[in-house]
This record gives sequence, structure tokens and C-alpha cells, in this order.
Amino acid sequence: MDYDQLQLPNHLGIIMDGNGRWATERGLPRSAGHKAGADNLKKLLFYIYEKGVSYVSLYAFSTENFKRDAKEVSFLMDLFVKLFHKELDVLLELGVKVVFSGRRENLPDNVFKAMQELALKTKDANKSTLNICINYGGQYEILDMTKKITELVLSKKLSVEDIDKKVIEENLYQNLPPLDFIIRTSGEMRSSNFMIYQASYAEYYFPSTYFPDFNEQEFDKAIVEFNNRKRRFGGN
Ligand code: IPE
Ligand code: IPE
Ligand code: MG
Repeated sequence: MDYDQLQLPNHLGIIMDGNGRWATERGLPRSAGHKAGADNLKKLLFYIYEKGVSYVSLYAFSTENFKRDAKEVSFLMDLFVKLFHKELDVLLELGVKVVFSGRRENLPDNVFKAMQELALKTKDANKSTLNICINYGGQYEILDMTKKITELVLSKKLSVEDIDKKVIEENLYQNLPPLDFIIRTSGEMRSSNFMIYQASYAEYYFPSTYFPDFNEQEFDKAIVEFNNRKRRFGGN
């Protein structure tokens, strides 16, 4: 598709959903769906960054996903480690700086180490940013931000009168521009705790496609839809 006449979201969010159903419908274990989702993600991200999107936030694992079967959780954790090692070179080639959002607690050490390594090795990349949300929940992000700001006030580094939106944004997990467009695959129409602060004026798009099938053509359709939205930000 010709992107010349189209506007890209500056910050795109993707809630990758439907891996499990994709697999179940094929008589496969849920893990096969996660593997297919990961394969799709690599192709899709390459396409998205090649088109010139500056910021992508990915919902990879919610804090609530720890409620899942231990075997599924450990499969996903191992998959993250493999991906973070394997995709480093491509990300560097694309000029993508990787940052993470979420809580450290409950993450296996090898996952946390792989996250730190990927962030460190890509820290000087300056074309685009990839924010990966792992062990992430939007309400926890707001809670953790509140604690950080309270500490600043209690230690007299900040006065209450000086708390404004800028201070809030500086104390979230990452200080990123607002989300413009959020794609959630699989037909579910909810945010499931994804970046609720940053999504205040984002446009949402809910294709019924399961994430492993959300390919380049599906992305093209999403961008056309984004261009058909009239964003108002409270104005007229
Ligand atoms: C998204 O697919 C992947 C993660 C949440 C980690 P799901 O695993 O939620 O797939 P469904 O929703 O059960 O089909
Ligand atoms: C949201 O998907 C989390 C991720 C995509 C990582 P879920 O499949 O966990 O969300 P619910 O439970 O359907 O709301
Ligand atoms: Mg799901």
C-alpha cells in the first residue's frame, strides 16, 4: 500500500491478543499460538518501523497474566528470553531503542537479565522506540508513580504545588508521548489495563483477526482506519 498520503500514528499501541484461540481452533496447544504470535510480531514490527512509526508500545504480558497455568507462563517467559537474544541485531539495524514497562517482582531472573541486556545494547539507537510491557498493569503504573512522587515530596525534593502533568509523566515507567492509536486483535473490546494514562485520547481499533494472522495487509487496513478517524481532543 502507498503510505505517502497517509498519516502514521506517532505512538502506536498493540495489544497482541488471540494467540490461544488461534491455536485451539487448529487443534494445537496454546504454546503453538504464542510461537505463531511471536513469528508474526517479528515481521510486523519490521514492517511498522520500515514505514516510519516512531514509538510502538507492545502489550506482551500483563500482571494479571500470572494467573495463568504455570506451564503457559513459563513457556512465555522462555519465549521472551529467546526473542530478546535473537532479535537484537535486527532491532539495531532498524535503529530501535528498546525500553520496558512493568514491575520487576515475579519475573524470573533470566528474563529480567535479558531485558536489561536488550535495553542496554539498544540504548543509543535513535530512529524509533519500542516499549515492551511485561508484568505490566496500568493501575500498577499509576500506583508506582504515586509512590515515587510521594517519596519526592516527603524527602522535600518536590513541593505539592509543583506536581503537574509533567511530573506525573516523568514518574511513569517510561516518559513517552501520548498514544495515538491502539490496535487490539482478536475482537475483544477492552483495554485490559494497558497504558490507561497514556491512552487518554488514543483512537482504538478492534479487528477480529487473531494476532498470529494480523499481517502487513491487516496493518495497512488499520492505518486507513486511523486516517478516517476525526480526532477532536475535546475541541469542535
Ligand atoms: C495473547 O493471546 C498473548 C498474551 C496474553 C500473553 P492470549 O493468550 O490471550 O490468547 P487468547 O485470548 O486466549 O486467545
Ligand atoms: C491482555 O490480554 C494482555 C496481553 C495481550 C498481554 P488478555 O488476554 O490477558 O486479556 P483479557 O484477560 O482477555 O482481558
Ligand atoms: Mg487473551
